[in-house]
Amino acid sequence: MRKAIGKASAEKIRSWLEHINQYNSTPEFGTTRVLFTDPEIKARAYVKDEMQQLGMEVHEDAVGNIFGIYRGLEAEASPVWTGSHIDTVLNAGMFDGMSGVVAGLEVVRLLREAGIRPKRSLAVVVYTSEEPTRFRLGCLGSRALAGRLAATEAAALYDAEGRSLYEVLEQLGFPVQDFDKVAKKKGEVFAAVELHIDQNGVLEQAGQTVGIVKTICAPTVLEIEVKGKQSHAGGTNMQDRHDAYMAACEISLQAEKLGRESASEYTTVTVGKMEIVPNAVNVIPGKVVFSVDIRDADYQAKNGLADKLKEAAARIGRQRGVAVAVREVNNDHPMPCAGSIREIIETKCKKLGVSYMQTISGAFHDSMLVGEFAPVAMIFVPSHGGISHSPQEWTDFAEIAAGTDVLAATLLELAEQ
Ligand code: GLV
Ligand code: MN
Ligand code: MN
Repeated sequence: MRKAIGKASAEKIRSWLEHINQYNSTPEFGTTRVLFTDPEIKARAYVKDEMQQLGMEVHEDAVGNIFGIYRGLEAEASPVWTGSHIDTVLNAGMFDGMSGVVAGLEVVRLLREAGIRPKRSLAVVVYTSEEPTRFRLGCLGSRALAGRLAATEAAALYDAEGRSLYEVLEQLGFPVQDFDKVAKKKGEVFAAVELHIDQNGVLEQAGQTVGIVKTICAPTVLEIEVKGKQSHAGGTNMQDRHDAYMAACEISLQAEKLGRESASEYTTVTVGKMEIVPNAVNVIPGKVVFSVDIRDADYQAKNGLADKLKEAAARIGRQRGVAVAVREVNNDHPMPCAGSIREIIETKCKKLGVSYMQTISGAFHDSMLVGEFAPVAMIFVPSHGGISHSPQEWTDFAEIAAGTDVLAATLLELAEQ
């Protein structure tokens, strides 16, 4: 008779999440844990220590992905992965990313407690910098695993202080000489399942505990630089201006219009970051650099919108006599989740009596890139009010525990295949 796995502990999950949340650069307003800042390094150390205490073998690769391995019985069998990220955006909450890591730890704790060692090893992965906060490009760890971030590209990714990702990794002692060995081949990972908070109101509104993700929407990020003519706010007539900020506003409004009018159901367009130079009350801005984040479940629709926006930006630049340069930071592919794993999740929800629905992820996740070399699936748990990337982000610990029960059963079935 097979040993039975216990129920996930909401208390244990709460304790891990609250502990990680102590590592925070902005305790006065939400949680900020940016890649390789002091709180992030401390949170990494804490998670690695917890993994070790759970009897896992821990190692990190050249890009800083953390792997906690719970060994299976068959050393040659490809492993099953779970996990997420522990870095955050600025002034975030304590659940986005961390819930998936903690859920993975809880699955291992339950397996150990029940004395279960499946055929395949189970890896809890903490992916490096899912958020684009520091280097303006997201999913750095999973991107390298998917073979889409080489050492040369890491050396050309700069933070606001002008330090490259490669240089930072090297200074922190990561084995950067092995950078090009990070990428996984298809077949090296049997399957990967990530638990994450919903970041949308759909689960809560539908009163469902678990969302089984069908597709992960993907981003295209554009960085647009507008160069106008810096001059005096009082001394320059309205008709004589080449105001970089006003051009940036017009391009931004055009981006919003394209997003609103898109025929594709899951289009979103966001201008979230803008630098104004020189940023003074009485000076007409001479330069503006801003981001446009375009998401869609439909890759062609996303590209079509980005092309229209580039045309509009060029036209607005000509009309206003300012120079507009558009740089594409990334253009990722939406990722369909594996039907076979989704079916297992659905069966487990039914068996465990956990209510569920099928859903779409408007947010991107590391699974979007892991899906390039392994079958992936995602388990969502409700976000209160649909709020995320905000200090108001909240998910009940009991809801994460319910999702973790589904995750544990799913991972166990995959690990025995
Ligand atoms: C990830 O946090 C995203 O922006 O979707
Ligand atoms: Mn996020
Ligand atoms: Mn996330």
